[in-house]
Amino acid sequence: MELALIGYPVSHSQSPWIHQRFLNQIKTTGRYQLIEIAPDQFETEIKKMKSMPLIGFNVTIPYKEKIMPYLDEISADAEEIGAVNTVVCHNQKWFGYNTDGVGLTTALKTQYPNLFQKDKSVLLLGAGGASRGIYHALLKEDFANISIANRTLSRAENVMELNVNNKPGEALSFQEAEQTLDQYDLVIQTTSVGMTPNETEQVIDLERLKQGAVVSDIVYQPFLTTLLKSAKEKGARIHHGHEMLLYQAKLAFELWTNETVSVEPLIDEFIQMINIK
Ligand code: ATR
Repeated sequence: MELALIGYPVSHSQSPWIHQRFLNQIKTTGRYQLIEIAPDQFETEIKKMKSMPLIGFNVTIPYKEKIMPYLDEISADAEEIGAVNTVVCHNQKWFGYNTDGVGLTTALKTQYPNLFQKDKSVLLLGAGGASRGIYHALLKEDFANISIANRTLSRAENVMELNVNNKPGEALSFQEAEQTLDQYDLVIQTTSVGMTPNETEQVIDLERLKQGAVVSDIVYQPFLTTLLKSAKEKGARIHHGHEMLLYQAKLAFELWTNETVSVEPLIDEFIQMINIK
């Protein structure tokens, strides 16, 4: 079974390790190749890929949007998000999906099922591509409020245009978010702030964090980001970045194979692996 990842760069990706384990779970031989495509080669290389015997592939930075015109069909979710991270290849046709946001909500639901209730409020930090996918997935759930805080307010407002049903929520500055933090049961950090080598950075202060809140950070290197450390010190429950990575991979693998795989057996080894790096 031939799988792949396209992006630039891709050499540090953990995805081959993850998908090899999923292949083992379903007792199938195969490989997950890393295909690094330089930006000026994109069109040529994508056309070459059409003749490769792939079951499917993942798409990462900087091609999640650029791949879209080359697809035969795009799921409604991926179309709305405006980005594709998973392509299923079938009968010479390519089908695009986005499993990033639902990857995070599935992971959160597994660890903290009680968070997904209609009286709960969510604060997203950041308004880039990752935030957009997560916000889209959160809108499908029954929350009382989903707000977005970002350094550049207009980008938060832009992401909130996905809220076509006018569910409650506001675009906020980081300062406003810090001041109203005690209103949120779940805080999700979606920027690259705090990622190695800038490990000491923290996007907002958690001084006013609500008692019993869950803080989720999509950054997974380092394993315990400064934000998560400070959440823990405030007595909050935390959710680590590798969870989203593993669950978006699970959902992609299931789209390719129509088989169900489990993230649980990978977690301890995966954490050890990223801690060594
Ligand atoms: P991605 O697709 O990974 O989400 P992106 O589209 O470049 O990346 O978005 C990056 C996000 O991180 C944005 O919310 C960005 O804030 P701005 O919209 O104001 O640029 C945020 N970000 C990046 N570096 C930041 C920093 N040093 N402080 C605060 N926010 C930062």
